[in-house]
Amino acid sequence: QRTAQELIRPQLPAELTQRDRCPFDPAKGLLELSGHGPVHRVEHAGESIWLVTGHDEARAVLADARMSADRFGNPRVRARMSPELFEEMFPPERRAGSFISMDAPEHTRFRRLLTGQFTVRRMRQLEPRVHEIVTQQLDAMIAAGPPSDLVHDFALPVPSLVICELLGVDYGDRDEFQRTTSKLLSLTTTVDEQIKVGTELRRFMQGLVRAKEKAPTDDLLSGLVTDTDLTEDELVGIANLLLIAGHETTANMLALGTFALLEHPEQLELLRRRPELTENAVEELLRYLSIIAFGVPRFAKEEVELGGATIPEGATVLVAVPAVNRDPERYPDPHELRVDRPRGHHLAFGHGIHQCIGQQLARVEMVVGFTELLRRLPGLELAVPASEVPLRTDMAIYGVHALPVSWDA
Ligand code: HEM
Repeated sequence: QRTAQELIRPQLPAELTQRDRCPFDPAKGLLELSGHGPVHRVEHAGESIWLVTGHDEARAVLADARMSADRFGNPRVRARMSPELFEEMFPPERRAGSFISMDAPEHTRFRRLLTGQFTVRRMRQLEPRVHEIVTQQLDAMIAAGPPSDLVHDFALPVPSLVICELLGVDYGDRDEFQRTTSKLLSLTTTVDEQIKVGTELRRFMQGLVRAKEKAPTDDLLSGLVTDTDLTEDELVGIANLLLIAGHETTANMLALGTFALLEHPEQLELLRRRPELTENAVEELLRYLSIIAFGVPRFAKEEVELGGATIPEGATVLVAVPAVNRDPERYPDPHELRVDRPRGHHLAFGHGIHQCIGQQLARVEMVVGFTELLRRLPGLELAVPASEVPLRTDMAIYGVHALPVSWDA
């Protein structure tokens, strides 16, 4: 049975997605293609995709109101499945609140409400909690002793617990929350499983929204419940979106970022010597790793001229973030990881109206996460040969499935 991802996302041929040279470099085929210009027409599985690899063109696409993010209205997505399956997978109550897939002006309304909640004050409030969560995970790892799977013991639970904090999930409900979300986010979720787990998660979020209605607290979800006129379906949709957008992304940056540092010992050494570089290192890791592996999809609502190409109305456009972030015109020696590289504008968080709303929070998680990980686990190293680390080559969010590590106990 086809996976849900296959139905939703434009598919690229393997030579443009399989990272074959080194676990951190984009596919060789993608880099070769990007050497031939900024915009490319790729034919695959009976569909044409316009692949954008140039930095300026990528920003232009993401800032262009003619480029729609509405995956539910995308004619190509609809063509991949029967109307019945579409309704079963994406009934209106499941689409409600998912503003990552909305265009202006509908998107604007939600984005404003959310920006009002992602305030500097709330992010500051969360920072000490992020510290506590990171410390608690590291304490448990240290108490159990090496070796450990960094994904299971650190990279996945940290963002999960931070989202619990953001949404105000009760301590007693956190195990259930983590169990459901890890199932939802697991790789080969088939269409049937996706529908089933999606329903379970919605039920959980519904309970959470109702609890906040009854007894609002100081979290973001309570803020949305009390300050806005959003419907219950919309609130549930927003909570789900925050969970899905903020969990695996941050988790894979933490795990793959650690793997990348371990595989670049001179960079790791520099970071250990100069921990004040951590914020810079996080930006460089975001650029270098580009975990949004298959890129950011859009479709053209009308004909658009871009980088010398004419993109026809209805066409699928894919901003190939891994190639864009390695654009040699933008970054000298783009394939080198340099934690002290001067910051440039990378596209790891997207650009334009959908630019990641959680980026400040993600940065806090990564800065605190890497700082404490390196401080608390001296002599951190891989516990298996690098070639045995299982890579998420098949996933929309790239990273590692597990990262066995050891340290000086
Ligand atoms: C949007 C990446 C962490 C919530 C995006 C987009 C990217 C991205 C590329 C743009 C998608 C598009 O244009 O279609 C990342 C990465 C992260 C991260 C690499 C971690 C390192 C987070 C966190 C949260 C979050 C922690 C929330 C807690 C969102 C939401 C959107 C979004 C809600 C949709 C914004 C909109 O449509 O206006 N993210 N993200 N993300 N992200 Fe993140």
